[in-house]
Amino acid sequence: MDGDVRINPYLSGNFAPVRSEDDFDLEVTGEIPAGLKGTLYRTGPNPQFDPRGDYHWFGGDGMIHAFHVEDGKVAYRNRYVRTPKWELENSHGRALFGSLGNPMTTDPVAMGQDSGVANTNIVHHAGRLLALEEGHMPFEMAERTLESKGYATDYRGKVTAHPKIDAKTGEMVWFGYGVGDMPLSAGMSYGVTDASGKVVRRDDFQAPFAAMVHDFMVTETYVLFPILPLTASLERAMSGRPAFAWEPEKGGRVGVMRRDGDVSSIRWFNVEACYVFHPMNAWEADGKLFADVMRYDSAPLFPLADGSPGQRTAARLVRWTFDLSGASDAIKEEALDDLDGEFPRFDERLSGLAYRHGWYAADPTNAKTIKQTAIAHLDHKTGKRQVYELNGGDMTSEPVFTPRSADADEGDGWLTAVVWRAGENRSDFLVFDAQDVAKGPIATAKLPRRVPFGFHGNWVAG
Ligand SMILES: [Fe+2]
Repeated sequence: MDGDVRINPYLSGNFAPVRSEDDFDLEVTGEIPAGLKGTLYRTGPNPQFDPRGDYHWFGGDGMIHAFHVEDGKVAYRNRYVRTPKWELENSHGRALFGSLGNPMTTDPVAMGQDSGVANTNIVHHAGRLLALEEGHMPFEMAERTLESKGYATDYRGKVTAHPKIDAKTGEMVWFGYGVGDMPLSAGMSYGVTDASGKVVRRDDFQAPFAAMVHDFMVTETYVLFPILPLTASLERAMSGRPAFAWEPEKGGRVGVMRRDGDVSSIRWFNVEACYVFHPMNAWEADGKLFADVMRYDSAPLFPLADGSPGQRTAARLVRWTFDLSGASDAIKEEALDDLDGEFPRFDERLSGLAYRHGWYAADPTNAKTIKQTAIAHLDHKTGKRQVYELNGGDMTSEPVFTPRSADADEGDGWLTAVVWRAGENRSDFLVFDAQDVAKGPIATAKLPRRVPFGFHGNWVAG
């Protein structure tokens, strides 16, 4: 990363922050389906002040963008997540923390203070709206007003930004990495929040090596922890080299544990060095585990251990198979798709179960960039793929599925996405028929300004 904020690509174009908190009634063209009622919450990094020193895209303050849909209308509201970091910097009127909590560039005023930015995901569970970032506790927000309520301290430590909600039990299953007294450690945690919102399990264990563990997989009976060689090192960071770096020689490991088992029973499978930010879904059948994941040949957006830039790389969907009854600890891998993609989603009523339909943001030019200029739907049963391509450099956020009704068939419903209109430098909220994305949006709600590129979002019905 270049330390000069004037040319940092993650502070320019539609990566640049918006610094106003607004309420807009959006102008709708087309028809918002009468049955579509609820809110799409989205989040992403949006630094309150110009950053100090190096800025990594993952390090900006979280901002929630809510699109509330009701009676064919769309209302937009955005608010910062007022974390302790946000409050401290706000009171000083400038940035105090180094990017990703980097102690080398942190002002003495902020040294040792909580550096959480709550910028990665926004999840609704057991009546609570939680802004998540992988290095800190969940941060609770008010559903309608987006008022900041504070850390959900009952979680007692770091929680992933990618919890899974068990479709059958309503439990929220999660993990943490870099857990323990020392930052950038191999310490991991595994936790469960029951359907009523009570944290009922939190166990700690050690990964084979310290790594950035962005996401994980959960099936009905098992949990899978991918430890891939985007390694973490405090020693490296303190010597001025990257805190996180691509070290393929370490190979990849995936820990498999029964959800009713102890963390000491984790079985480690092996996979060739690769990186995965996001799985689509995982499930179990006939003594095997299956996981569909967006696989990169190497970790994008991160340097090598000596600080030199990593390779340009893009993800494609592959299926991992784990044979639990066999003696081999090798993971079988097969390609499912030939289109560069990211932000895979599915009908989450099938979370942890065999499923048919998936959606993702795609780059139809396969140019190994993070330019997501299309939305794709993949039908795993027929192998058919539909793609809706945007024009003129427009780019999409992660597409999010919402079912037509609670008991609708799998994949019967709508897909929502926020699209940046490059030519006008503003954004639109789009609604698609989830089974026919190629025909384009059935409704478009126009924002008067842009929504910066972000990470994740979720639909909350009602
Ligand atoms: Fe993510």
